[in-house]
Amino acid sequence: MSKFQIGLGVSGGIAAYKAVEVMRLLQKSRCEVSVAMTRHATEFVQPLTFRALTDKHVIVDDYDPANPDPIAHINFSQNIDLLLVVPATANIIAKFANGVADDFLSSTYLACTAAVMIAPAMNTTMWEQPATQRNIERLKADGVHFVEPVAGELACKTVGTGKLEDVENIVKQVLALLVQSPKSKVQDREKTTLDIGHETLDLAAERLLITVGGTREAIDPVRYISNYSSGKMGYAVAEAAGARGAEVTVVAGQTTIDTAANVKVFRALSAVEMHDAVMRELPNATIFVGAAAVADYRPANSADAKIKKDGKETMTLELTKTPDILADVAKHRSNGLLVIGFAAETNDVVNYARSKMQKKGLDMVVANDITKEGAGFNTDTNIATIISKDSQIDLPLMPKRELADKILDEILKLRNSNAG
Ligand code: CTP
Repeated sequence: MSKFQIGLGVSGGIAAYKAVEVMRLLQKSRCEVSVAMTRHATEFVQPLTFRALTDKHVIVDDYDPANPDPIAHINFSQNIDLLLVVPATANIIAKFANGVADDFLSSTYLACTAAVMIAPAMNTTMWEQPATQRNIERLKADGVHFVEPVAGELACKTVGTGKLEDVENIVKQVLALLVQSPKSKVQDREKTTLDIGHETLDLAAERLLITVGGTREAIDPVRYISNYSSGKMGYAVAEAAGARGAEVTVVAGQTTIDTAANVKVFRALSAVEMHDAVMRELPNATIFVGAAAVADYRPANSADAKIKKDGKETMTLELTKTPDILADVAKHRSNGLLVIGFAAETNDVVNYARSKMQKKGLDMVVANDITKEGAGFNTDTNIATIISKDSQIDLPLMPKRELADKILDEILKLRNSNAG
């Protein structure tokens, strides 16, 4: 398997030591790293550190007699898939933005045709300076990618924006860029992996859109029709996908739990609102999962004012059909979008689930019998059968978070088989 070639540029800031961690993590993730440092960076970290870990000469100065390559900035820049600068000071950003090439790293930038990603780190005032912001805007317009700095306590003991983004997040963004880039070596969508403990970034190329929770259909301003869905299964899938590097967007109805980490959440309480939110977000998605328990019917006329009893012994609500979000998504799919549904059933589970898959035009359906102990609504566990055109996997009782990973494993298999 060919490795990604990363040119890691290190400029002179206190966060330079974190470039070592970035380099180690890249090396564990199918990347071969060559390092270039500015003179000031060597005040913070010794080139020897990078040399010992890459087994390569670390270039600081083209003209250094110890440099084995006489035209290093050309060769270095032509042989990489990505030039990554960690940390990037205001000075190196200014040089890149203005085409100044007075040292090895800035000359390399000018000579570089590969993608460029910059992770700035600096004092808040320097970051907020109009000059710095102007340079960043210019570079963005030139197609340079940025890993934005975050807010936090800085080395100068002030609190504000300018802190280098977490090392893991930098590497996630690097890998996402590499696998998505048109020049990518993984055009067959064979995924790259990142080894952070148990975490695997095998979904870095995917953008997951998922509905979670139950919908609420208003009868009047104080009453509604809903169901027992908690959103736990959907949020488990969202969280697992985020942990595996996917960009995750959740459209959430009524839920009993809060949002998962690292995901974007839009609230959409009724089936119609959920449908609108999904259709708005869909063009950006590569995978759609319908995990919400969407009401099939809503009151035909939701009253504007509270409905009064007025001595009536019975009351009839007229219901009208809601849009089938999942079926609509499948109907409008394009560009290899994978569409996955859930089927919560009380009997004849697999047959009903299979027919749902066919009727709605799905790639996969996750079926469960909600009458089984440990598989119903609002539990932390589930017992599921994952069904696709060619396979059926019956899974035992397990935590929803574990099931979420199994579902994602199967989605990935589908992706790879579709690509092959
Ligand atoms: N679903 C949807 N929009 C709807 C109804 C269902 O997106 N209006 C999705 C659910 O999110 C789930 C799948 O369709 O992924 C199956 O939902 P389910 O309620 O089990 O099936 P229905 O199609 O509603 O069929 P039935 O109620 O007859 O079993």
